Amino acid sequence: MLNYRKGLADMPAYDVIERPWGIKVNANECNMNLPPLVEERVMARLGCVAFNRYPNEQYDDLREQIAKYYGVQKENVLLGIGSSEIIEKIFYCFGGGEERHIVYPQPSFSMYKIYAKAAEATGVPVDLRADYTFDADAFINKVQEVKADLAVICNPNNPTGTGIPLEDIKKVADNIDCCFLVDEAYMEFYGKSAFGMLKNYPNMIIARTFSKAYGLASCRVGYMVADAKIVDMIAKAYMPYYMNVLSLVTADTCFQMRQEFVPRIQMMIAERKRMSKRYAELQGVKVYPSNTNFVLVKVPDAVALNESLVAKNIGIRSFGNAPRLENCLRLSMGLREENDRIFDEIKLFLEGRA
Ligand SMILES: Cc1ncc(COP(=O)(O)O)c(C=O)c1O
Repeated sequence: MLNYRKGLADMPAYDVIERPWGIKVNANECNMNLPPLVEERVMARLGCVAFNRYPNEQYDDLREQIAKYYGVQKENVLLGIGSSEIIEKIFYCFGGGEERHIVYPQPSFSMYKIYAKAAEATGVPVDLRADYTFDADAFINKVQEVKADLAVICNPNNPTGTGIPLEDIKKVADNIDCCFLVDEAYMEFYGKSAFGMLKNYPNMIIARTFSKAYGLASCRVGYMVADAKIVDMIAKAYMPYYMNVLSLVTADTCFQMRQEFVPRIQMMIAERKRMSKRYAELQGVKVYPSNTNFVLVKVPDAVALNESLVAKNIGIRSFGNAPRLENCLRLSMGLREENDRIFDEIKLFLEGRA
Protein backbone atom coordinates (compact mmCIF):
# COMPACT_ATOMS: atom_id res chain seq x y z
CA MET A 1 0.00 0.00 0.00
CA LEU A 2 1.43 3.37 -1.03
CA ASN A 3 0.59 6.01 1.55
CA TYR A 4 0.91 9.27 -0.33
CA ARG A 5 0.68 12.53 1.59
CA LYS A 6 -2.78 13.80 2.49
CA GLY A 7 -4.50 15.69 -0.32
CA LEU A 8 -2.17 14.53 -3.10
CA ALA A 9 -4.73 12.28 -4.80
CA ASP A 10 -7.16 15.22 -5.08
CA MET A 11 -4.56 17.57 -6.43
CA PRO A 12 -5.58 18.79 -9.90
CA ALA A 13 -2.94 18.27 -12.61
CA TYR A 14 -1.83 20.89 -15.14
CA ASP A 15 -3.90 19.74 -18.10
CA VAL A 16 -2.11 20.93 -21.23
CA ILE A 17 -1.80 18.14 -23.80
CA GLU A 18 1.74 18.04 -25.19
CA ARG A 19 2.95 16.17 -28.25
CA PRO A 20 5.20 17.08 -31.20
CA TRP A 21 2.71 19.48 -32.81
CA GLY A 22 3.13 20.63 -36.43
CA ILE A 23 2.19 24.11 -35.21
CA LYS A 24 2.44 24.75 -31.49
CA VAL A 25 0.72 27.78 -29.98
CA ASN A 26 -0.61 26.27 -26.75
CA ALA A 27 1.86 27.51 -24.11
CA ASN A 28 2.53 31.20 -24.87
CA GLU A 29 6.08 30.41 -25.85
CA CYS A 30 8.08 32.38 -28.38
CA ASN A 31 7.99 30.50 -31.69
CA MET A 32 11.50 31.63 -32.67
CA ASN A 33 14.75 30.30 -31.29
CA LEU A 34 17.34 32.73 -29.89
CA PRO A 35 18.47 35.64 -32.10
CA PRO A 36 21.63 34.38 -33.93
CA LEU A 37 23.97 36.88 -32.25
CA VAL A 38 22.73 35.89 -28.82
CA GLU A 39 22.95 32.19 -29.63
CA GLU A 40 26.55 32.60 -30.75
CA ARG A 41 27.47 34.37 -27.51
CA VAL A 42 25.60 31.79 -25.40
CA MET A 43 27.44 28.91 -27.08
CA ALA A 44 30.81 30.62 -26.59
CA ARG A 45 30.11 31.18 -22.89
CA LEU A 46 28.76 27.65 -22.34
CA GLY A 47 32.04 26.36 -23.75
CA CYS A 48 33.86 27.92 -20.78
CA VAL A 49 31.72 26.89 -17.79
CA ALA A 50 33.24 24.98 -14.89
CA PHE A 51 31.06 21.87 -14.91
CA ASN A 52 32.70 20.62 -11.72
CA ARG A 53 31.64 23.59 -9.54
CA TYR A 54 28.36 24.51 -7.90
CA PRO A 55 27.12 27.61 -9.73
CA ASN A 56 27.34 30.22 -6.96
CA GLU A 57 29.17 32.76 -9.01
CA GLN A 58 26.84 32.55 -12.00
CA TYR A 59 23.83 32.80 -9.69
CA ASP A 60 25.18 36.02 -8.22
CA ASP A 61 26.18 37.39 -11.62
CA LEU A 62 22.63 37.12 -12.94
CA ARG A 63 21.15 38.48 -9.72
CA GLU A 64 23.48 41.44 -9.99
CA GLN A 65 22.65 42.06 -13.64
CA ILE A 66 18.95 42.13 -12.82
CA ALA A 67 19.45 44.28 -9.72
CA LYS A 68 21.56 46.79 -11.66
CA TYR A 69 18.93 47.08 -14.38
CA TYR A 70 16.17 47.80 -11.85
CA GLY A 71 18.32 50.06 -9.66
CA VAL A 72 18.02 47.78 -6.61
CA GLN A 73 20.48 45.61 -4.66
CA LYS A 74 21.15 41.97 -5.45
CA GLU A 75 19.61 41.20 -2.03
CA ASN A 76 16.29 42.34 -3.54
CA VAL A 77 16.42 39.68 -6.27
CA LEU A 78 15.72 35.96 -6.04
CA LEU A 79 16.05 33.61 -9.01
CA GLY A 80 13.93 30.53 -9.60
CA ILE A 81 13.49 27.58 -11.92
CA GLY A 82 11.01 29.51 -14.03
CA SER A 83 8.73 32.02 -12.37
CA SER A 84 6.59 28.90 -11.74
CA GLU A 85 8.93 27.85 -8.99
CA ILE A 86 9.12 31.36 -7.55
CA ILE A 87 5.32 31.53 -7.37
CA GLU A 88 5.10 28.04 -5.93
CA LYS A 89 7.64 28.96 -3.20
CA ILE A 90 5.81 32.19 -2.38
CA PHE A 91 2.56 30.22 -2.01
CA TYR A 92 4.42 27.71 0.17
CA CYS A 93 5.84 30.44 2.39
CA PHE A 94 2.47 32.10 2.95
CA GLY A 95 0.47 28.87 3.09
CA GLY A 96 0.71 25.99 5.51
CA GLY A 97 -2.84 25.32 6.72
CA GLU A 98 -6.51 25.66 5.79
CA GLU A 99 -6.77 28.80 7.89
CA ARG A 100 -4.28 30.50 5.56
CA HIS A 101 -5.97 32.23 2.60
CA ILE A 102 -4.53 33.01 -0.80
CA VAL A 103 -6.66 35.30 -2.98
CA TYR A 104 -6.29 35.44 -6.76
CA PRO A 105 -8.47 36.48 -9.72
CA GLN A 106 -10.57 34.08 -11.77
CA PRO A 107 -10.09 33.28 -14.59
CA SER A 108 -6.34 33.64 -14.31
CA PHE A 109 -3.22 31.46 -14.42
CA SER A 110 -4.58 27.99 -13.68
CA MET A 111 -1.56 27.10 -11.53
CA TYR A 112 -2.53 29.53 -8.73
CA LYS A 113 -5.27 27.13 -7.65
CA ILE A 114 -2.87 24.20 -7.75
CA TYR A 115 -0.09 26.02 -5.86
CA ALA A 116 -2.59 27.07 -3.17
CA LYS A 117 -3.60 23.44 -2.74
CA ALA A 118 0.03 22.26 -2.74
CA ALA A 119 0.75 24.84 -0.03
CA GLU A 120 -2.18 23.34 1.95
CA ALA A 121 -3.75 26.80 2.00
CA THR A 122 -7.29 27.81 1.11
CA GLY A 123 -7.38 29.26 -2.40
CA VAL A 124 -9.93 32.07 -2.78
CA PRO A 125 -10.74 33.03 -6.39
CA VAL A 126 -12.31 36.44 -7.05
CA ASP A 127 -14.23 36.77 -10.30
CA LEU A 128 -13.05 39.22 -12.93
CA ARG A 129 -15.88 41.26 -14.45
CA ALA A 130 -17.86 39.77 -17.35
CA ASP A 131 -15.48 41.42 -19.84
CA TYR A 132 -12.52 40.04 -17.84
CA THR A 133 -11.42 43.42 -16.54
CA PHE A 134 -10.10 43.47 -12.99
CA ASP A 135 -12.50 44.59 -10.27
CA ALA A 136 -10.16 46.17 -7.71
CA ASP A 137 -12.93 46.80 -5.15
CA ALA A 138 -14.18 43.20 -5.25
CA PHE A 139 -10.60 41.98 -4.91
CA ILE A 140 -9.82 44.27 -1.96
CA ASN A 141 -13.09 43.34 -0.24
CA LYS A 142 -12.30 39.65 -0.53
CA VAL A 143 -8.71 40.06 0.71
CA GLN A 144 -10.04 41.97 3.72
CA GLU A 145 -13.00 39.63 4.32
CA VAL A 146 -10.92 36.44 4.50
CA LYS A 147 -7.95 38.22 6.14
CA ALA A 148 -5.77 36.88 3.35
CA ASP A 149 -2.15 35.95 3.90
CA LEU A 150 -1.26 36.38 0.24
CA ALA A 151 -2.96 38.28 -2.60
CA VAL A 152 -1.93 37.53 -6.18
CA ILE A 153 -2.68 39.28 -9.45
CA CYS A 154 -1.42 38.56 -12.92
CA ASN A 155 -0.73 41.60 -15.08
CA PRO A 156 -1.40 41.33 -17.95
CA ASN A 157 -3.65 38.43 -17.11
CA ASN A 158 -3.29 34.93 -18.51
CA PRO A 159 -5.42 33.56 -20.18
CA THR A 160 -7.59 36.60 -20.87
CA GLY A 161 -4.81 38.95 -22.03
CA THR A 162 -6.36 41.81 -20.05
CA GLY A 163 -4.08 44.54 -18.72
CA ILE A 164 -4.75 45.81 -15.21
CA PRO A 165 -4.35 49.62 -15.01
CA LEU A 166 -1.56 50.63 -12.61
CA GLU A 167 -4.06 52.81 -10.69
CA ASP A 168 -5.98 49.64 -9.82
CA ILE A 169 -2.82 47.95 -8.60
CA LYS A 170 -2.01 50.99 -6.49
CA LYS A 171 -5.53 50.97 -5.10
CA VAL A 172 -5.12 47.31 -4.08
CA ALA A 173 -1.69 48.01 -2.56
CA ASP A 174 -3.11 50.95 -0.61
CA ASN A 175 -5.89 48.87 0.86
CA ILE A 176 -4.33 45.55 1.82
CA ASP A 177 -1.50 44.75 4.15
CA CYS A 178 -0.78 41.08 3.42
CA CYS A 179 1.91 40.01 0.95
CA PHE A 180 0.96 41.18 -2.55
CA LEU A 181 2.40 39.29 -5.52
CA VAL A 182 2.18 40.86 -8.99
CA ASP A 183 2.94 38.20 -11.60
CA GLU A 184 4.30 40.06 -14.64
CA ALA A 185 5.11 37.08 -16.87
CA TYR A 186 3.87 38.96 -19.97
CA MET A 187 4.88 42.50 -18.99
CA GLU A 188 7.24 43.00 -21.95
CA PHE A 189 4.21 42.85 -24.27
CA TYR A 190 2.30 45.40 -22.17
CA GLY A 191 4.97 47.82 -21.00
CA LYS A 192 3.23 48.92 -17.79
CA SER A 193 4.97 47.45 -14.80
CA ALA A 194 4.15 47.89 -11.13
CA PHE A 195 7.89 47.93 -10.49
CA GLY A 196 7.92 51.64 -9.62
CA MET A 197 5.57 50.91 -6.70
CA LEU A 198 7.90 48.45 -4.98
CA LYS A 199 9.72 51.12 -2.96
CA ASN A 200 6.45 52.36 -1.48
CA TYR A 201 5.04 48.95 -0.60
CA PRO A 202 7.41 46.66 1.32
CA ASN A 203 4.79 43.88 1.16
CA MET A 204 4.86 43.79 -2.68
CA ILE A 205 6.65 41.18 -4.83
CA ILE A 206 7.07 41.33 -8.60
CA ALA A 207 7.68 38.06 -10.46
CA ARG A 208 9.07 37.94 -14.00
CA THR A 209 10.18 35.22 -16.40
CA PHE A 210 12.68 34.59 -19.20
CA SER A 211 10.24 32.09 -20.77
CA LYS A 212 8.06 34.44 -22.82
CA ALA A 213 9.61 37.62 -24.29
CA TYR A 214 13.13 36.16 -24.13
CA GLY A 215 11.99 32.86 -25.65
CA LEU A 216 13.94 30.91 -23.03
CA ALA A 217 11.23 28.51 -21.87
CA SER A 218 13.61 25.54 -22.15
CA CYS A 219 16.07 26.97 -19.60
CA ARG A 220 13.48 27.52 -16.87
CA VAL A 221 14.60 30.82 -15.39
CA GLY A 222 12.44 33.36 -13.59
CA TYR A 223 12.99 35.88 -10.83
CA MET A 224 11.29 38.00 -8.22
CA VAL A 225 12.14 41.46 -6.94
CA ALA A 226 11.04 42.55 -3.47
CA ASP A 227 12.16 43.95 -0.14
CA ALA A 228 15.31 42.13 1.01
CA LYS A 229 13.49 40.79 4.10
CA ILE A 230 10.91 39.05 1.91
CA VAL A 231 13.66 37.70 -0.36
CA ASP A 232 15.47 36.26 2.69
CA MET A 233 12.33 34.51 3.90
CA ILE A 234 11.36 33.03 0.51
CA ALA A 235 14.99 31.93 -0.01
CA LYS A 236 14.59 29.66 3.03
CA ALA A 237 12.22 27.48 1.00
CA TYR A 238 14.99 26.69 -1.50
CA MET A 239 17.63 24.01 -1.37
CA PRO A 240 21.26 25.04 -1.91
CA TYR A 241 22.50 25.48 -5.50
CA TYR A 242 19.08 24.90 -7.04
CA MET A 243 19.77 26.67 -10.36
CA ASN A 244 21.97 25.00 -12.96
CA VAL A 245 24.91 26.74 -14.58
CA LEU A 246 23.71 26.23 -18.18
CA SER A 247 20.45 28.07 -17.55
CA LEU A 248 22.12 30.78 -15.49
CA VAL A 249 24.75 31.56 -18.12
CA THR A 250 22.18 31.49 -20.93
CA ALA A 251 19.76 33.79 -19.10
CA ASP A 252 22.61 36.11 -18.11
CA THR A 253 23.68 36.43 -21.75
CA CYS A 254 20.11 37.06 -22.89
CA PHE A 255 19.63 39.70 -20.23
CA GLN A 256 22.85 41.47 -21.18
CA MET A 257 21.83 41.36 -24.84
CA ARG A 258 18.18 42.25 -24.22
CA GLN A 259 18.17 44.87 -27.01
CA GLU A 260 18.40 41.97 -29.49
CA PHE A 261 14.95 40.83 -28.36
CA VAL A 262 13.18 44.14 -28.91
CA PRO A 263 12.36 43.61 -32.64
CA ARG A 264 10.80 40.21 -32.01
CA ILE A 265 8.74 41.51 -29.08
CA GLN A 266 7.47 44.24 -31.40
CA MET A 267 6.74 41.63 -34.05
CA MET A 268 4.71 39.52 -31.62
CA ILE A 269 2.76 42.60 -30.55
CA ALA A 270 2.12 43.47 -34.22
CA GLU A 271 0.93 39.91 -34.89
CA ARG A 272 -1.37 40.07 -31.87
CA LYS A 273 -2.93 43.26 -33.23
CA ARG A 274 -3.20 41.91 -36.77
CA MET A 275 -4.72 38.60 -35.73
CA SER A 276 -7.12 40.17 -33.19
CA LYS A 277 -8.50 42.28 -36.04
CA ARG A 278 -8.80 39.30 -38.38
CA TYR A 279 -10.58 37.13 -35.78
CA ALA A 280 -12.94 39.98 -34.88
CA GLU A 281 -14.15 39.96 -38.51
CA LEU A 282 -15.24 36.31 -38.28
CA GLN A 283 -18.94 35.69 -37.73
CA GLY A 284 -19.67 34.37 -34.22
CA VAL A 285 -16.17 34.97 -32.84
CA LYS A 286 -15.55 37.24 -29.86
CA VAL A 287 -11.99 38.50 -29.40
CA TYR A 288 -10.85 39.76 -26.01
CA PRO A 289 -8.46 42.74 -26.08
CA SER A 290 -4.98 41.42 -25.31
CA ASN A 291 -1.81 43.01 -23.95
CA THR A 292 0.26 39.85 -24.20
CA ASN A 293 1.75 37.48 -26.81
CA PHE A 294 -1.54 35.58 -27.13
CA VAL A 295 -5.17 36.18 -27.99
CA LEU A 296 -8.24 34.70 -26.29
CA VAL A 297 -11.21 34.06 -28.56
CA LYS A 298 -14.70 32.80 -27.81
CA VAL A 299 -16.22 30.60 -30.51
CA PRO A 300 -19.53 28.75 -30.88
CA ASP A 301 -18.19 25.21 -30.27
CA ALA A 302 -14.67 25.30 -28.86
CA VAL A 303 -14.44 21.58 -28.10
CA ALA A 304 -15.23 20.50 -31.67
CA LEU A 305 -13.09 23.26 -33.14
CA ASN A 306 -10.15 22.23 -30.97
CA GLU A 307 -10.61 18.60 -32.01
CA SER A 308 -10.51 19.62 -35.66
CA LEU A 309 -7.26 21.54 -35.07
CA VAL A 310 -5.75 18.61 -33.16
CA ALA A 311 -6.57 16.38 -36.14
CA LYS A 312 -4.49 18.79 -38.23
CA ASN A 313 -1.62 18.60 -35.75
CA ILE A 314 -2.17 22.14 -34.49
CA GLY A 315 -1.82 22.58 -30.73
CA ILE A 316 -3.76 25.47 -29.19
CA ARG A 317 -5.04 25.93 -25.61
CA SER A 318 -8.66 24.95 -25.21
CA PHE A 319 -10.22 25.53 -21.80
CA GLY A 320 -12.96 22.89 -21.87
CA ASN A 321 -15.30 23.69 -19.01
CA ALA A 322 -12.94 25.79 -16.90
CA PRO A 323 -14.97 28.34 -14.89
CA ARG A 324 -15.82 31.46 -16.90
CA LEU A 325 -13.85 30.20 -19.93
CA GLU A 326 -16.50 28.09 -21.65
CA ASN A 327 -15.94 27.99 -25.43
CA CYS A 328 -12.72 29.96 -25.13
CA LEU A 329 -9.53 29.18 -27.02
CA ARG A 330 -6.16 30.78 -26.36
CA LEU A 331 -3.82 31.23 -29.30
CA SER A 332 -0.21 32.22 -28.68
CA MET A 333 1.17 34.38 -31.45
CA GLY A 334 3.42 32.22 -33.59
CA LEU A 335 5.12 33.16 -36.82
CA ARG A 336 3.03 35.14 -39.30
CA GLU A 337 2.49 32.12 -41.57
CA GLU A 338 1.54 29.92 -38.59
CA ASN A 339 -0.99 32.48 -37.38
CA ASP A 340 -2.49 32.73 -40.87
CA ARG A 341 -2.69 28.95 -41.27
CA ILE A 342 -4.51 28.60 -37.90
CA PHE A 343 -6.84 31.43 -38.84
CA ASP A 344 -7.67 29.73 -42.16
CA GLU A 345 -8.42 26.44 -40.39
CA ILE A 346 -10.64 28.14 -37.82
CA LYS A 347 -12.47 30.07 -40.56
CA LEU A 348 -13.07 26.87 -42.55
CA PHE A 349 -14.41 25.14 -39.46
CA LEU A 350 -16.76 28.01 -38.60
CA GLU A 351 -18.06 28.06 -42.17
CA GLY A 352 -18.72 24.32 -41.87
CA ARG A 353 -16.10 23.46 -44.48
CA ALA A 354 -13.34 21.94 -42.34
C1 LIG B 1 0.90 34.15 -15.72
C2 LIG B 1 2.04 33.20 -15.70
N1 LIG B 1 2.87 33.21 -14.67
C3 LIG B 1 3.91 32.38 -14.61
C4 LIG B 1 4.15 31.47 -15.61
C5 LIG B 1 5.30 30.54 -15.46
O1 LIG B 1 6.26 30.72 -16.41
P1 LIG B 1 7.72 30.11 -16.23
O2 LIG B 1 7.67 29.10 -15.13
O3 LIG B 1 8.04 29.49 -17.54
O4 LIG B 1 8.59 31.25 -15.88
C6 LIG B 1 3.30 31.41 -16.71
C7 LIG B 1 3.51 30.43 -17.78
O5 LIG B 1 2.78 30.24 -18.69
C8 LIG B 1 2.22 32.31 -16.76
O6 LIG B 1 1.36 32.30 -17.77
